[in-house]
Amino acid sequence: MLEIEPGVRLYRGFFDFSRQDSLVRDIERVIARAPLFTPRMPRTGKAFSVRMTNCGPFGWVSDAARGYRYEPHHPETCEPWPVMPRVLLEAWEELASYPLPPQACLVNLYHAEARMSLHQDRDEKDFEAPILSVSLGADCRFRLGGSKRSDPTRTFVLSSGDAMTLGGPARLRFHGVDKLLPALSPRFASPLLANGERINLTLRRVT
Ligand code: SIN
Ligand code: FE2
Repeated sequence: MLEIEPGVRLYRGFFDFSRQDSLVRDIERVIARAPLFTPRMPRTGKAFSVRMTNCGPFGWVSDAARGYRYEPHHPETCEPWPVMPRVLLEAWEELASYPLPPQACLVNLYHAEARMSLHQDRDEKDFEAPILSVSLGADCRFRLGGSKRSDPTRTFVLSSGDAMTLGGPARLRFHGVDKLLPALSPRFASPLLANGERINLTLRRVT
């Protein structure tokens, strides 16, 4: 484990390739039940470049009319989100140092040109629990800022199989994804990752 800064813990290669591959299959099953959707910015309705879905009791959604929030149902199918894969619950138990299980897992699918602008994860009612992030597929250049938007930022690479927690003093740090670095991805059989895509999973406590 590498503590990049207080509360930012990076577990390089936490998932070996066979566990990554089975996690990608789990995510295929999640997407089959809860199809990817394109979230939109509050008010402007501008589309995110990533597509999303969720698993677990709650899912993070965003649209022009009602903004960022957690919902127990998929915005298009209106069905409950599928259950969280067991391997993610186990990773949370091992890495989160928190007595309760995660309540939401946001699945972000980045196509090769997609990015995520600098933001804080602050739609949860509970900031005691960390955010646990798992990366699959293409490498990306991840940007970590401070607790104010104007604070200096730094970047590092997140690779397939890496797990990271943002917790304690780092729970509300700004972060984002500048770009994918497609050349370095391991080869997955999944069509989800056939063209240099990246999947990021973030597990959270919500209530
Ligand atoms: C996010 O902050 O929701 C995603 C971060 C990532 O893709 O690594
Ligand atoms: Fe985030």
